[in-house]
Amino acid sequence: MNRTFPVRLARVLAEVTGIHHDPARHYLLESRLSGLVERFNLDSLESLGILLEKTPADEGLWSHVYDAISTGETYFYRDQPGLDRFFSSLPPRSSIGTDPVRILSVGCSSGEEVYTLALMAMEAGRLEDFRLAGIDLSFGQIEKARAGVYGQRSVRRVPEDLLRRAFHQEGTHYRVRDRVRSVTRFSRGNILSVVSPLDSYEGILCRNVIIYFDDETRKKLINIFYRLVSPGGVLLTGTGELLPDGGAPFQIESRNGIVLYHKK
Ligand SMILES: C[S@@+](CC[C@H](N)C(=O)[O-])C[C@H]1O[C@@H](n2cnc3c(N)ncnc32)[C@H](O)[C@@H]1O
Repeated sequence: MNRTFPVRLARVLAEVTGIHHDPARHYLLESRLSGLVERFNLDSLESLGILLEKTPADEGLWSHVYDAISTGETYFYRDQPGLDRFFSSLPPRSSIGTDPVRILSVGCSSGEEVYTLALMAMEAGRLEDFRLAGIDLSFGQIEKARAGVYGQRSVRRVPEDLLRRAFHQEGTHYRVRDRVRSVTRFSRGNILSVVSPLDSYEGILCRNVIIYFDDETRKKLINIFYRLVSPGGVLLTGTGELLPDGGAPFQIESRNGIVLYHKK
């Protein structure tokens, strides 16, 4: 296999998904995508790139690529201090009066982040005050999120008592109870292209996603997020994941390594 990553493939992946080819992850990406070269009877990774350039980003071949390149590492209560700050910074109600507080997790992977917020809302006695949405590039991750069934590794940080109250145990796995699931919704989508101008959220989480994006894509994201966050709302990125230009026009609040972006 070629030692340099195929240029056209790298370019089309970055253009469509925002995910930039990182030389340190070269072999990982190469091995994940090589399966598709075989499956679609292509002769090289570069041919895959050429085919992807001609294929609309929502069609079959791309769905395999999204699943292959998605690094879906996540678990319940990941980086909890950030989640706590985010949760306590949310406006008490939606900007449109008595409607629930709307939250969007961008790059939600298999759903643990969204369900964690639902558990936090439940523990605060406010589950029904929230509507929690997640979107992810990968069809496979969204299927898992909708199923809401997790292994021990995913739930290892859920306190035992909460695990009993919020999940049904099924053998070695845990299924999120319907009451918690009822305030959640998951959809397959690309944050760089699917956003409806009518959507609006009091809070957006985008954690452990933009590390794979370059500065230009991050700038584009600021505008997308600024349109999506309602006035008074807040955006949380992952620890150490900064938006360019201080996230302007958001107002940045940085404390103990946790960065919140406020829309006044
Ligand atoms: C490492 S996971 C992060 C999961 C969770 N947010 C967390 O912090 O635990 C990154 C996810 O971002 C998704 N992703 C990457 N680029 C995306 C894009 N352009 N639109 C939507 N999701 C994207 C990937 O498919 C992957 O599931």
